[in-house]
Amino acid sequence: MRTEQPKMIYLKDYQAPEYLIDETHLTFELFEDHSLVHAQLVMRRNPARGAGLPPLVLDGQQLELLSVSLADQPLGAGDYQLDDNHLTLHPASASFTVDTSVRINPQTNTALEGLYKSSGMFCTQCEAEGFRKITYYLDRPDVMSKFTTTVVAEQHRYPVLLSNGNPIASGPGEDGRHWATWEDPFMKPAYLFALVAGDLWCVEDSFCTMSGRDVALRIYVEPENIDKCQHAMNSLKKSMRWDEQTYGREYDLDIFMIVAVNDFNMGAMENKGLNIFNSSAVLARAETATDAAHQRVEAIVAHEYFHNWSGNRVTCRDWFQLSLKEGFTVFRDAGFSSDMNSRTVKRIQDVAYLRTHQFAEDAGPMAHAVRPESFIEISNFYTLTVYEKGSEVVGMIHTLLGAEGFRKGSDLYFERHDGQAVTCDDFVKAMEDANGVDLTQFKRWYSQAGTPRLAVSEAYDAAAKTYSLTFRQSCPQTPDKVEKLPFVIPVELGLLDSQGAAIALRLAGEASAQGNSRVISVTEAEQTFTFVDVAERPLPSLLRGFSAPVKLSFPYDRDQLMFLMQHDSDGFNRWEAGQQLAVQVLQELIGQHQQGQALVMDQRLVTALGSVLADESLDPAMVAEMLSLPGEAYLTEISEVADVEAIHGAREFARKQLAEQLFAALLKRYQANRELSRATAYVAESEHFARRALQNIALSYLMLVGKPEVLAAAIEQFDSADNMTERLTALAVLVNSPFEAEKAQALAVFAENFKDNALVMDQWFSVQAASPLPGGLERVKALMQHPAFNIKNPNKVRALIGAFAGQNLINFHAADGSGYRFLADLVIQLNGFNPQIASRQLAPLTRWRKYDSARQALMKVELERIRASGELSSDVFEVVSKSLA
Ligand code: TRP
Ligand code: ZN
Repeated sequence: MRTEQPKMIYLKDYQAPEYLIDETHLTFELFEDHSLVHAQLVMRRNPARGAGLPPLVLDGQQLELLSVSLADQPLGAGDYQLDDNHLTLHPASASFTVDTSVRINPQTNTALEGLYKSSGMFCTQCEAEGFRKITYYLDRPDVMSKFTTTVVAEQHRYPVLLSNGNPIASGPGEDGRHWATWEDPFMKPAYLFALVAGDLWCVEDSFCTMSGRDVALRIYVEPENIDKCQHAMNSLKKSMRWDEQTYGREYDLDIFMIVAVNDFNMGAMENKGLNIFNSSAVLARAETATDAAHQRVEAIVAHEYFHNWSGNRVTCRDWFQLSLKEGFTVFRDAGFSSDMNSRTVKRIQDVAYLRTHQFAEDAGPMAHAVRPESFIEISNFYTLTVYEKGSEVVGMIHTLLGAEGFRKGSDLYFERHDGQAVTCDDFVKAMEDANGVDLTQFKRWYSQAGTPRLAVSEAYDAAAKTYSLTFRQSCPQTPDKVEKLPFVIPVELGLLDSQGAAIALRLAGEASAQGNSRVISVTEAEQTFTFVDVAERPLPSLLRGFSAPVKLSFPYDRDQLMFLMQHDSDGFNRWEAGQQLAVQVLQELIGQHQQGQALVMDQRLVTALGSVLADESLDPAMVAEMLSLPGEAYLTEISEVADVEAIHGAREFARKQLAEQLFAALLKRYQANRELSRATAYVAESEHFARRALQNIALSYLMLVGKPEVLAAAIEQFDSADNMTERLTALAVLVNSPFEAEKAQALAVFAENFKDNALVMDQWFSVQAASPLPGGLERVKALMQHPAFNIKNPNKVRALIGAFAGQNLINFHAADGSGYRFLADLVIQLNGFNPQIASRQLAPLTRWRKYDSARQALMKVELERIRASGELSSDVFEVVSKSLA
């Protein structure tokens, strides 16, 4: 909680640290009502900052200082200055040690930052600025140090004592206590520090690296979860091999550990050698985790592992550079997931997510550049823009340089900056130097916020056999008021002839054609590209694979989109054509709804999806993606003013139409896949994910028709599935159905069977919170009273409140403002004990500009009420004040 007005921090004010910490020696004494932390810091003046000995200002928050010595001299109260955030000392020589002892209270730490307790174990979360809640330190990523850590705790309660690096000594202590010392040979910033003490079991394995070293792999969990670690372990080994093969990156310690904790603000954390994970990002087995959860575990294990190079060996100079490690690492984990599963399906899912959520962020009051210029609270900048758009920016570099050029650039980056804390500019510089290219203009992607628009028009000259595409780019104003200059926009494209065949692509001035799918770079506000030797008017396939994070528009008609759905050689763009067709049809229905007309759906959508459904040669995962209509949140994002009721009404109408008209085909594919599921044991592999995805979306459609045979099928799947993927969808379709008795029965059976599994109960909460049936808010309020709900646990808050406000738009945006009032009350409550979670749950209210004036007013009232509610954390303060600015 703040004691002074939070202040803005600017990138332009960056200065290198005045002092460095060569060695950090920590001793933790963990007790039941408090902990003691003794730190010895071996320090020196930073030579880069010149001569002179300015005051040494150490960061520290919520610490009770017990003693402090400077250069082995105990200091008295007059020898140092102490305030809520700093301890200031006055060194008398260029090299010295600082010794401090502090008392902290992990047991009452509900913010889950620093050292805290979760389900009886001690654990830490230090990124971004949590280490200052553990001891006085230079808590900034450009101060890197060699850490040695001793943990002392009661043997019986905490048999396992872990920290970063390698274990070097351990032994018994007094009064039933024991201790262990860990040494991390790699220099690291404090945000990568970790400590764990608990009664944990571990699954062990080993990995032989490319240079033949054996690395011990351990996943630590609570004993009852020991049977849910194999998938994460397999994912870890695959990640280690993949990073060797794809980036030439080898693991560097003798041991790699993952610990699962139940109370965690984010997905996971890449602490050196000791990753700490939200248990939801580790635990997965058929009976309790869906296919999506399995894929999420695989992706997060990979992401954190990949950070060992992109983040740890090469780290960030300051937090403005966060995307240096996060954007790059998301790009790396996406490449991994693409190789493990289907590249096209992974791309579709990532793009759908980016366009729905990151585009909305980029158009809202919290919009910021991939490398922001300023912030109040860094925790608010672990955003879709830094992660997902940051990954797109790295992806564009990959597209521009090609796979080989990109690899040369990443090799140079890792080699040049190993052991350093660097900037996004350093990353781009390595890419430039390794390839002899100039990315100066490209770097605007790092400094300019907002989603560029790219309007494309065409001109065909039959006599000259030329075809011209004119690109006009623009970027809307964002709150930072930065002037937008043209971006470098790589557009991968192809041209289709009237048979759907690819046309060879030769630009005017080129000696010969260069393939039939190629990347052009749009670098000016307006730019025309002319293709020659084009014998007939072609149909363009633009922005293949979503080669740039822009809003592209081209005046396709619906028949052309159907043609692209059938013939485009780019799988991503086949899906995209289907989405655009669906958007056009849905927008027509939305218009009809708004005019009070009877809804009449364009039959072309039925025809198009009918042929997709009938084509058994297609990847079932692609069929499932193509059958998924654009979500309500995406339809909201692309609306000038989002009409909540019309969007929901139109989309539900379209789904029901599709279900009725494609009933036989859906049933056929449902039954065939359900048969396969019944005949074979669950396998967590790509082709089975694909098959079940089709089976489940078919069931969701079928259930809209309300036939007894479908109800029977849903109940059969619910009762006899051997896995959570099938069971949860069956539960969801029942929950969203009018069959009250069957719904109640399924919910009760599910809760009874899984009451002891918190992660499964999270799914039970989410399914109900996301149900669009009337009365959503009352259901959520009732569920908050359920014994399995706990507002202190972030997973529970996300499962219930996050699902309601983020996925149940028709209920959350109830015209009477009840959803907004509920969320504001919750944010005020969360602000009191977990500011990071409070601030994240607030996001839906920041989107008020998207709605009609009545809803805007209601949403602003709630933001004002939060603002006036008392002591705001810097997290909530920043989001609320920017939203109302
Ligand atoms: N570095 C983590 C990741 O992306 C993010 C993270 C984990 C985090 N826990 C956090 C960020 C707490 C802020 C606060 O892999
Ligand atoms: Zn990360």
